[in-house]
Amino acid sequence: MEKYRLSLQERGMAIQYAELPWWKTGPIYQIYPRSFLDTNSDGVGDLEGIRRKLDYLQDLGVRGIWLSPIYPSPLYDFGYDITNYHDIDPVFGSLETFKLLVREAEARGISLIMDMVLNHTSHLHPWFIESRSSRDNPKRDWYIWKDGPRGPFGKGYPNNWMAAFGGHAWTWDKPTEQYYLHLFTEEQPDLNWRNPEVQEAMLAEMQFWLDLGVKGFRLDVINYLVKDAQFRNNPYHFRMTYPRRHDLQHHQFDRNQPETYEIVHRIRSLMDLYAGASEDTMLVGEVYPDEGVHAPDLAATYIGNGKDLLHLAFDFSTIYTSLTAADLHSVLQTWYGVLSPGAWPCHVLSNHDQSRAASRLCAGADNEAKKRVLAALLLTQRGTPFLYYGEEIGMEDGVIARKDLQDPLGKKYYPFHPGRDRSRTPMQWTGDSAAGFTEGKPWLPINRDFRKRNVEAQQRDPSSLLHWYRDLITLRQEEPALLDGSIEFFETGLQENVLAYVRRKAGSEVLVVLNVSGQTRPNPIRRGGTVLLSTHRKPQGTIEHDTRLAPWECTVYR
Ligand code: GLC
Ligand code: CA
Repeated sequence: MEKYRLSLQERGMAIQYAELPWWKTGPIYQIYPRSFLDTNSDGVGDLEGIRRKLDYLQDLGVRGIWLSPIYPSPLYDFGYDITNYHDIDPVFGSLETFKLLVREAEARGISLIMDMVLNHTSHLHPWFIESRSSRDNPKRDWYIWKDGPRGPFGKGYPNNWMAAFGGHAWTWDKPTEQYYLHLFTEEQPDLNWRNPEVQEAMLAEMQFWLDLGVKGFRLDVINYLVKDAQFRNNPYHFRMTYPRRHDLQHHQFDRNQPETYEIVHRIRSLMDLYAGASEDTMLVGEVYPDEGVHAPDLAATYIGNGKDLLHLAFDFSTIYTSLTAADLHSVLQTWYGVLSPGAWPCHVLSNHDQSRAASRLCAGADNEAKKRVLAALLLTQRGTPFLYYGEEIGMEDGVIARKDLQDPLGKKYYPFHPGRDRSRTPMQWTGDSAAGFTEGKPWLPINRDFRKRNVEAQQRDPSSLLHWYRDLITLRQEEPALLDGSIEFFETGLQENVLAYVRRKAGSEVLVVLNVSGQTRPNPIRRGGTVLLSTHRKPQGTIEHDTRLAPWECTVYR
């Protein structure tokens, strides 16, 4: 199949970001730092590696970077268990390297956001060490300690809550004879967010990063912060899942308590202090619903009108969807529909917890063509697109042997759940050994396809997926209608698996047609126009109103 592309840069067009804050101009690129680029041959990616790739990211059109955790951590959950919230783990570098990274990113128009894990710390955090030292330690109440009820069979758990990574959410602590709560591993004790001292302490940690020039945070499991005041049992509900008792409950009492919104509001107020006139700071929340459940309405409640709570929240419905026009349309339409008028949407197809969309949605025949459809979809929607490192070259899930598993979830549920290592494999930069990621032994195996699939090869090939991403991003930033115009879907094509929509702004209209099938289909828009970017048509050529779309064709036109 011949591929055409419209090189907007070659046409000498300047990119205009309109009057929007940086985070609305996206894309925001998530880096899993352990896997991006290793510069000291210890097999683990580092901050210097990220710094060296800033030109690459700028060239791609990235406007922000979200760094998965880089704080000191004993790695029970690969950085999501933190022992010090205002330092860098030596494996990644130092605060000095970090400051340099912030400066150099900024010089390229790229803002940095940190991953903030507020719900829990590491069990080795000094706060928890103090808290568990005695029942009357001043930090005792910083975490959640409970007696177990006593019955005829001895003590029992305080309630039925289950941990996401297996077992009960309560661990018995012998020295002080109480249970502490952990919604993840037992090495991740939950903080008590009803305690104002905890709130103060955590806000101070965030302020530390804002003072260093960080422009915002991705808030880990933000909807988990506050627990039911009475610690009531979660109701059970049956669902087909891998054998995790955690998923057989509706998480009514261990998440989404009304007080959480007050805390989010406090955090937002801190952000606003640093925002300046251009709404320069941003919070994006991971709002995690019951496993496998579409809950865009829940995510929307954490954004509200966009002024007092989060700026953005992830709707993970896209993670549980299938690659059909009808499903994609329904997920997107629902997401737009539940957001208040002042709220700004965002979209995510892949992250460090899920199977990559390139594998999840694009497996089987025509898989490269499907990836182009997803890219075109993500980058022409209304709102901020999030990219996960390697998505732009179509990286797929790794196949990880049991002996190579690192992820606690994967180890616990092997072989029922593949774990999360599969989407965390090293970035594929070149076709050289270890994909140019490291000169040492990579912490996770490199995907087998790296000799064919890597950045260097795709940079050389103008018809590559990487070029397709770059062209889409450029187009998005040049066309006001794509950047912040309205969206309206044409429902007529859905039955034939064609997703078509129009983006509108101030008299300018951009039409998008995506043939989400391997068959030739009519264009449901029934309007002709001038091609801006297409997998199959020459730029500035025409598309006729009665055109038939080629299999998996993506065309953006005016
Ligand atoms: C979030 C993170 C995940 C982590 C968990 C506990 O879901 O995305 O990687 O394991 O929180 O912090
Ligand atoms: Ca390293």
